[in-house]
Amino acid sequence: MTHLAIFASGTGSNARKIIEHFKNSPDVRVALVVSNKKDAGVLDIARAHDIPTQVLARKMFYETEDLLGILKQHDIGFIVLAGFLWLIPSYLVQSFDKKMVNIHPALLPKYGGKGMFGRHVHEAVKANGETETGITIHYVNEHYDEGDIVFQARCPVRPEDTPEDIARKVQQLEHQHFPLVVEHLVRAS
Ligand code: GRF
Repeated sequence: MTHLAIFASGTGSNARKIIEHFKNSPDVRVALVVSNKKDAGVLDIARAHDIPTQVLARKMFYETEDLLGILKQHDIGFIVLAGFLWLIPSYLVQSFDKKMVNIHPALLPKYGGKGMFGRHVHEAVKANGETETGITIHYVNEHYDEGDIVFQARCPVRPEDTPEDIARKVQQLEHQHFPLVVEHLVRAS
């Protein structure tokens, strides 16, 4: 049985899809949800599914390695970042080498890096007149959005699309693919 931890800062729609996807899995279980925000919607989703939660303080995350002990207590073998906005410190990158993935709402290496999250991404895609965008799932290293890419999916951007329209299409791709790609990577890891 592989235990997953999901890290998220926001509403957690992707976390929800992943939790639901693995609900009846015989060999993969979402065993912990971690957030840096104590009022994040993702924590309510976790509680509704009886999944343990952990709220992170910045000092603990960056100045200690206490989180490794917590992950060990829950026997975590794989980490999924689903809208987690803090940069991952190197002790965690090294402990979960090729066992930690992030999802980004654009076709990296375009529209990635610090500050490129949420509507900022889709506004930039629109402003540049892109004709397509999509999602990228990648392993995590010490830099924002730079680890090895493992999966991309694309969708068209029409001239009349607003950033909100683009966000909707991209979210649909995320929900469609992220749980399946995570399942594939966990099995292969
Ligand atoms: C997603 O768009 C993901 O690509 C990005 O953060 C967003 C999280 O959305 N990294 P949600 O909280 O899962 O709805």
